[in-house]
Amino acid sequence: MKVLPLAVLLSAVLMGCGRSEPPPKSSATGAQLFEHYCASCHRAEGTGNFLKGIPANALTRLGPDEVVDLIRKGNPEKSKMPVFSDLSRYQAERITLHLWKLRETLVEKRSR
Ligand code: HEC
Repeated sequence: MKVLPLAVLLSAVLMGCGRSEPPPKSSATGAQLFEHYCASCHRAEGTGNFLKGIPANALTRLGPDEVVDLIRKGNPEKSKMPVFSDLSRYQAERITLHLWKLRETLVEKRSR
């Protein structure tokens, strides 16, 4: 029977960009979590995608606490962004810490 591989392929296509790998473990680092949950839109460097209307989240004016809330609860002013209510506060904080590292890298690059 060749039904299973086809179903797997189809679901990978339906999910878009082949993001069919299992979600990271709860022990995943902020970088791993960012890569899995955020990079598909905001890119690994947090520079976003201007043409697709995705802001450079590494340069957000929101504070760290606001970003943690944006990730888990959403923000009416940023409603085009999906809400990740499955993430724990702790995971969202790790992602946010990683985002601030990306910000440092970006700001350094720009000031050169
Ligand atoms: C499906 C694409 C998508 C994914 C995945 C995504 N975002 Fe976003 N994000 C957006 C869009 C679109 C906006 C702009 C929202 C608006 O203005 O309504 C945004 C806005 C933001 C902002 C605010 C930027 C600003 O200009 O102040 C931050 C911070 C942010 N995202 C962080 C994250 C983090 C962290 C993750 C991963 C947990 C993530 N995003 C995942 C699409 C995405």
